[in-house]
Amino acid sequence: MVNNASVNYWDYLQVPKLLNLQNGLNDNNVSVDELHFIIVHQVFELWFKQVISEIKFVRDKLNVARVEEENIPIIVHHLQRVVKILTIASDHFVLMETLTPQDFLNFRSKLGTASGFQSFQMRQIELLLGLTKGERENYNHDNPIKFLYETSKHSIDGSEIVNLLEKTSTEKNLLECVLDWIYRTPIQGSGPNSDNDNDIVDEFISGYLERIKEINETQMKKLIEDGGDINVKTKFEESYNEIYDFLNAVEFNQSDSKDFKLRMKRIRAGILFIESYRNFPLVSWPRILIDSIVELEECFIKFRFNHARMVERIIGRRIGTGGSSGVDYLDETTKYRIFKDLWKIRTILLPSQNLPPLKNVNYFQFVSEVD
Ligand code: HEM
Repeated sequence: MVNNASVNYWDYLQVPKLLNLQNGLNDNNVSVDELHFIIVHQVFELWFKQVISEIKFVRDKLNVARVEEENIPIIVHHLQRVVKILTIASDHFVLMETLTPQDFLNFRSKLGTASGFQSFQMRQIELLLGLTKGERENYNHDNPIKFLYETSKHSIDGSEIVNLLEKTSTEKNLLECVLDWIYRTPIQGSGPNSDNDNDIVDEFISGYLERIKEINETQMKKLIEDGGDINVKTKFEESYNEIYDFLNAVEFNQSDSKDFKLRMKRIRAGILFIESYRNFPLVSWPRILIDSIVELEECFIKFRFNHARMVERIIGRRIGTGGSSGVDYLDETTKYRIFKDLWKIRTILLPSQNLPPLKNVNYFQFVSEVD
């Protein structure tokens, strides 16, 4: 037990230990450029560690049958910390860019097949957020975790890393917890256990769709009058049908159970409801929470984008040390989306003046009745 009176800066932060971790392969031959390369990577890994702990904190707060109202600002606060970390971390890539292509080539061969591809903390973040194998497969990408398992066979810490990733992949992810929470949205004041909830959700969705149709009609007429594209009618019809199918969760018809389809329909209606009536006190914090999740994913995408540009500047279009196509692969990863439904609702939202009327208005107010 340390006596508090004797605590000092370097013991508390374990600075000597920390400063002893930049020797690369312990070959006593780390150039000033290689030291820079190692430190920049280590700083990123430290931020990843904090991001993992923040996401777990948020996930656990949401992973309960009833999320207490007063916890929502706390969840938002921690999501916003992740947003800030990822934003600042993305800027770190400009530090890496002070390494010229030639500077890097001078020691690149020392890396062998080592690559950020093997950043197990990055994989943990992806798993904790809810990135699926299916999303990678949409771009014909292999599961990088499979590759990591192979690599781990030749590493002292390998089995610990594999265990960590296996444990993380069995845990509930943030996407699942957010959707569970949104599922319970009081749409027009009705909860999922209310007797006629399905009818209320249907009515809300069909009211919304009707208004989208009206707006589309007006816009389409105007475009035709102004001599717009002759295919404009088809485009509007296609866009409307896509929105209709999405809000009615049509894609879950075939292989999924009826309950699952109804659940997805309620979740999508829930997001739409929260975003639409966002100025009412009861849903204003939930709206900010949803927005913070979208912002977090946006920062994650920007992080991938900045990394890809830095890589292009330093190694051009070479094959990566991890064996991927390099920049082409990295650019494709910027297309991954985890919180798809939260993004999609943004395409559907109506202007406030066109919204279907909010029912049970008092329920959503801060002061529900005035004496
Ligand atoms: C000279 C600097 C760097 C170069 C040339 C570089 C290059 C690459 C390349 C080519 C890949 C694709 C995988 C492969 O085939 O190897 C990759 C992946 C990756 N790199 Fe870097 N990188 C650099 C610095 C960094 C830094 C500072 C970080 C910060 C942590 C980082 C994190 C990652 C991550 C997480 C991946 C996996 C991306 C994914 O699969 O989604 N890299 N890097």
